[in-house]
This record gives sequence, structure tokens and C-alpha cells, in this order.
Amino acid sequence: MNENVNVYINGNRYIAQKGEPLLNVARRNGIDIPALCYEESLGAYGACRLCIVDVKEGAKKGITTSCTLSCTDGLSVETDSDRVVQHRKVLFELYLAQAPKSEKIRDMASKYGVYETRFLKRKKTNDPLNNSCVLCGLCVRACNEAMGVGVINFIGRGYKTRINTPYFEQSDVCMGCKACLEVCPTKAITINDKVDVRIMKSWSDTEVKMKKCSVCGNFYVPEVLDKKVDSLFYYRDKNEQLKDMCPECRKKYVTKQATLISLKEVEKYAK
Ligand code: FES
Repeated sequence: MNENVNVYINGNRYIAQKGEPLLNVARRNGIDIPALCYEESLGAYGACRLCIVDVKEGAKKGITTSCTLSCTDGLSVETDSDRVVQHRKVLFELYLAQAPKSEKIRDMASKYGVYETRFLKRKKTNDPLNNSCVLCGLCVRACNEAMGVGVINFIGRGYKTRINTPYFEQSDVCMGCKACLEVCPTKAITINDKVDVRIMKSWSDTEVKMKKCSVCGNFYVPEVLDKKVDSLFYYRDKNEQLKDMCPECRKKYVTKQATLISLKEVEKYAK
């Protein structure tokens, strides 16, 4: 059974579940802690360091990341102490250099009065990630851990670290699910749908074939993704009529069938 504990954020008491990340408690209670690499469904990773807090009472005192900080009874933190703010300002300068085109980073940094960077800006023409990637790793984890595919990974070291497909070659295992795009905090990833093909511009122009709706003729889902979903949810196959319809046509079909059934019921009782 979950055990509740008391934690203190900026002097105010909050109820938390023992062991849950402090960042969750802060978010639940509307306390703003900047964060780039935390996605609850994927768990903590501790890469971006922006979510740091100053621990005043607890097992380890001092500056630490709130996404990896487990709640214990009596834990007390400050989210915007002078030390925290100083650290964050430097981090924002680093991110402005790493992702100079990212609006999200500029926006976050401006809240701390950081508009310029002392570090060398990484500007690369034709960067597949639009000079907006902060290397938080969320896309890599979504692809590897959530989707179980592993199309992309970190490549290179230090200043030259990038995220892309191995050897920058087109992937033959990508499902075109867009999980990477969904989790990217800086909207660095580009994916384009061109009629019957989905093109992962950021991932070495990997192409995935799209499936055509049997009713309206629109291309609505990557073929390989549709097959994967079919294999996971066996019941999808049961209604052959619905199998090859896009969500819009399915909805119309189901509504029509439901209306016909209820009309028949009305007729039955009217006799
Ligand atoms: S959100 Fe905690 S380190 Fe990135």
C-alpha cells in the first residue's frame, strides 16, 4: 500500500507518496520547476539538470535534481534559492549555445533574465534537428523503451554528440509512430507526411509507407505501425469492415450502425 508523507516546498507543506519524485509533487501543486528531460511515463533520467532544487532537510542536502529526488517524510526543499537560480542561469546559457534556434529554450531562459550566452553557439546549416536539440534523450528513450524499436541513439562524443540513426542511414525498422516527436520538449524533430509516405526528415530521411483508407482513400497510418497494433490488440481484427478504415470513417460507420440498430428497436416496440 502507498504510504503518504509530508514534504515541504518553499516552506509550504504538501502530501506526497513515499518514494515518488519530488518534481511530480511540485507539478501536481502548480509549483513551477523548469524541466526538459522528465516524462512521467518514461521515468527520471536526470539529464537536463534544470529541475534542480536546494535540499534543506533530507537524506542528501544541497543541490540536486528534483526528478530523481524521492520523497521522504520531512523532506524540505527550496525551488528558487540563490544557488539554484545561479546554477540555472548558467545552464540556460549552455542551452542557448547548444540549441540557439529553440524558441522554448529562449522562452525559458528569458524568465531568468538570460538572453545571451557566453558559450560558443552551435549553429550548423542543414542540422536535421534544426539547431534546437538539447540532447535530453527523451526521443531515444521513447523509441527504445516505450516503442521497443531503437531507431535512433546518441552518436559521437562531447561537443560532437548528436542524435540520429546509426551511420546516418535510413532505418528499416522505424514504424513512423511519431513518439519521438511527441516527447521532444524543444520541437526539434521534423516529420513530414507526403500522401502515401511519411518522411522522418530528422532521422536520415527515413521513409515509411502509409496505409490507405478503404472508404475515403486518405492515407492515415503507417502500414507497419498498423500491423504492430493489430498484433497487440487481437480484437481489432474481428470486424473486417472496420479493419481498413481511417478513424474518421470508422466513427461514421459505427454511428450509422448504432442508429440503424436503435431504429430497428423503435420499430419493434411501435408494432
Ligand atoms: S527534468 Fe530533472 S534532470 Fe531533467
